[in-house]
Amino acid sequence: MDHPSTAKQMSSPLQQWWHTTTAYQVYPRSFSDSDGDGIGDIPGIISKLDYLKDLGIGVIWLSPIYRSPMDDNGYDISDYRDIAAEFGTLDDFDQLVREAKARDIGILLDLVVNHTSDEHPWFVQSRADRDNPYRDFYIWRRPAADGGPPNDLQSSFGGPAWTLDPATGDYYLHLFSRRQPDLNWQNPRVREEIYSMMNWWIARGIAGFRMDVIDYIGKQPDAGIVTDGSRLHDYLQEMNAATFGGRDLLTVGETWSATPQSALLYSGRDRNELSMVFQFEHVTQQWDSVYGKWRPKPLDLVALKAVLGKWQQALSTDGWNSLFWGNHDLPRAVSRYGDVTGYRVASAKMLATVLHLLKGTPFVYQGEEIGMTNVPFTTIDQYRDIETLNMQRLHVDAGLLPEEFLKGANESSRDNARTPMQWSSDPHGGFSSGIPWIDVNDNYTTVNAAAAIADTASIWHHYRHLIGMRKAHPVIVYGQYRSYLDDDPNVFVYERQLDEVRLVVVANFKPLPLSLTMPPEAQIRGLCLSSNYAARDRIDATIDLAPYEAFAVLERR
Ligand code: NOJ
Repeated sequence: MDHPSTAKQMSSPLQQWWHTTTAYQVYPRSFSDSDGDGIGDIPGIISKLDYLKDLGIGVIWLSPIYRSPMDDNGYDISDYRDIAAEFGTLDDFDQLVREAKARDIGILLDLVVNHTSDEHPWFVQSRADRDNPYRDFYIWRRPAADGGPPNDLQSSFGGPAWTLDPATGDYYLHLFSRRQPDLNWQNPRVREEIYSMMNWWIARGIAGFRMDVIDYIGKQPDAGIVTDGSRLHDYLQEMNAATFGGRDLLTVGETWSATPQSALLYSGRDRNELSMVFQFEHVTQQWDSVYGKWRPKPLDLVALKAVLGKWQQALSTDGWNSLFWGNHDLPRAVSRYGDVTGYRVASAKMLATVLHLLKGTPFVYQGEEIGMTNVPFTTIDQYRDIETLNMQRLHVDAGLLPEEFLKGANESSRDNARTPMQWSSDPHGGFSSGIPWIDVNDNYTTVNAAAAIADTASIWHHYRHLIGMRKAHPVIVYGQYRSYLDDDPNVFVYERQLDEVRLVVVANFKPLPLSLTMPPEAQIRGLCLSSNYAARDRIDATIDLAPYEAFAVLERR
């Protein structure tokens, strides 16, 4: 398998090509529409490869592009070996891989194998009768004594995780929508089919996989266990040996349940499982204990620093971190962690500085690099996301006022991240010549890629600079992490150190000027590596910070 040429520079088992790489997530439906049907597509992605190359991106994670009825925008697959017609064809995909490779960019596919669509032929067979050879591809149970579901497992999209299927009178398990039946990983035939499908894509030249809710595949539904089932790591080791192992591919597991301990199981050097996982502790820590993300708490910087620092320390000598603020399931980073009222540009750059100078592989979510914001939809009809619409129904039925729900959705709905990419000030933000499948954020006239590229002081140029710094300075890639001022609720200060090189990062998370007293160990002089105000080349005992100021100083001893 060929790789982005970055791959070829590193062959030591301790150094991997994805250590110096920055990844970019494309949500195909909303990225770029080439044919005017209002839905983004693969030719649209190909037309933006130069844009991603200029930004410095080395690998693209594509959210699902497979054939699908799109109940969950492609996370419900009906054919693992074909492309959804609205996104293009297999020829388009092959061209994408080729064109990306020509620019030293790898393509990661989204591997959604916890469940399929209910339209997948396996499920169509499986539900037909109890003796069907595909019956055991899914998880079927007899009703409870009262005729109800076998147990009280709940779906992530609200309501019971079991649906009664009239054809046979049994219930099937679906941990997401009822149109996303869960595969039965205990069945070796299921695993063989999945591995063969993975190899089929690997042979097409992809650079790896992002693995959807991969911590679910060991589920033990009768015991009420969803994540971290007893055979989870056996399956991953088996998958590794049967597919990507030894081929230098990047694999990243989506694991909402991960702890630093389990992350070492997934990504430890001698484990033969994955390259890294996405952990979500810094996300869920901000959720309400009862209403979850629908009622987020104000940002608690001390807690956020503690979580990020804990992960930096835990994976400092083994395992590997992924680094991200946003994705297609999360609010826009600058809306959640920054300040879109008066400091959109400064706070977005500050957040980028903090994240990109940590140890791990950064993942930029489309539009983050131009500071796209949450979308202030005013009616529920503007939302398209199955989770948002289901939750609205459930909460309003339970007595919540629709306007209260809308407030939560404005902050937390997955559609905040899914409005079309804002390319220019042309109609629909230059995303499509047709009517987009979901409304474009009205701020596209000022927040767009063309304007950002034209302005050398933009968020886009700041990202480009940081992505380039990671390739140039091993201290960013491999330096030891140490934090300062852990209890300070306003600033994030940390150091990275590799041999004789030290990098100190200072970030003000508040819309106010601050005067900061720095501990003696953090006072250094050297070179300004990054700044969102005037360059600074030293950190003295006292420093005055502007609102959302962030900078990094590199010292060589
Ligand atoms: C996680 C994905 O990121 C999300 O978008 C999807 O709805 C669920 N898994 C189900 O596949």
